[in-house]
Amino acid sequence: SHRVRLISANWKMNLNHLEAIALVQKLYHLLRPEDFRYAEIAIHPPFTSLRSLQLTFEADRMPFTLGAQNVSDQLSGAFTGEVSAQMLSKLAVGYVIVGHSERRHLFGETSEQVAQKALAVQQAGMRPIVCLGESHEQRESGLTLDVLTAQIDPILNTYPLEALDTIVIAYEPVWAIGSGESADPEVVEGVGRSLRELLRRRVGDEIAARIRLQYGGSVSVGNAREFMSLEDIDGLLVGGASLDAEVFAQLIRAA
Ligand code: G3H
Repeated sequence: SHRVRLISANWKMNLNHLEAIALVQKLYHLLRPEDFRYAEIAIHPPFTSLRSLQLTFEADRMPFTLGAQNVSDQLSGAFTGEVSAQMLSKLAVGYVIVGHSERRHLFGETSEQVAQKALAVQQAGMRPIVCLGESHEQRESGLTLDVLTAQIDPILNTYPLEALDTIVIAYEPVWAIGSGESADPEVVEGVGRSLRELLRRRVGDEIAARIRLQYGGSVSVGNAREFMSLEDIDGLLVGGASLDAEVFAQLIRAA
């Protein structure tokens, strides 16, 4: 497709800032310039490593994009423990993951909050990666598209239409995350087509054609290519396989 491919490493709550610097240095040395031309490569460390990675990327001219894993839906103020979108944008963060299934399930985030977070990200000049996905039970009950629609609707109703083409949507079936059991590529192909169709109906053909869709959930060296080659899938959101420089470099090359 004409969309710029995006391969994102979601480190979750792993690696301190020293380990983070060591990993990106190793990864950079394992990659070739053409790997960065194939896809934009984004690294989403915990907040505590953002500044270190910003400085490392700058100092060694590494063409990675910096990403965050979460953000407050508030602009500033008495919200102990929260981090604002403005703070992230000052660290040269390009993408912020919002609504990851771990945030929705372990921390009770609602789709309305996720939409507020996506808006805060946009207003601070960054791009949200909006995560969507059904549980195993929802899939078995034939509710997948209803669930995905309910998750995405608040975003489509809140986000400024003229900026909607800058959002990234990550489809991550809950049961495929960290389980070693990725979704069937045919299922992902079908969901990708349905999501694109839903977007066309809601925001028109032109914008829908520009929105990038990622697949996430047990992406590995062995299956990265298959997901990347699907018509509507423009990238990957990688958890476990992004925590080892050699594995992640191989995954990028395989994709
Ligand atoms: O954000 C990443 C996803 O949750 C996938 O994680 O690749 O470890 O299954 P995983």
